[in-house]
Amino acid sequence: MYQELLQKAKEISKNAYCPYSKFQVGACILYESGKKYEGCNVENASYGLSLCAERNAMSSAVANGEKTKIKAIAIYSPNQKKCLPCGACRQWIAEFAINDKETKIILEDDNSTPLVLNLEDIFPYGFKFE
Ligand code: THU
Repeated sequence: MYQELLQKAKEISKNAYCPYSKFQVGACILYESGKKYEGCNVENASYGLSLCAERNAMSSAVANGEKTKIKAIAIYSPNQKKCLPCGACRQWIAEFAINDKETKIILEDDNSTPLVLNLEDIFPYGFKFE
C-alpha cells in the first residue's frame, strides 16, 4: 500500500512546475475514506509565493469535498533522497492528521523500500488552536 502511494507521488512529481529551483516534488495522500489525492509543487516568479506539493495535495482534497483525516502521506523528489516536508507543510499535515501517532509520513528509503515515520517523529509539540 505504501509502495503504491510512493509510486503515485513519483508520477505526479513529473508534473511539477519548478522553472526556478528545478526541484521536483510529488505527494500522494491517503485519507481514511480510502481516497487518494496528489499534488506537485508550483513555483512563481515571486519565489515566496511558491506552493509545495504536499499543500497542493491537501488543498485538492479539501476542494474535492474530502472530510476524513489523513492516514498517510507519501512524498517523493527525484532530486533528493528522503525529501521531508518543510515546516509549513508539517503544520498543514497536522491540521488534517488523524493524530501524530497514527498519521504516517512515507519516504523512499535507500533500497527503494518505503521508510515509514510517524507525524510525531518529525513534528512534535506542534501548534494547536484550542
Ligand atoms: N518543496 C515542496 O514541494 N515540498 C516541501 O516540503 C519542500 C519544498 C518545493 C518548493 C519549491 O518549489 C522547491 O521544492 C524547492 O524549494
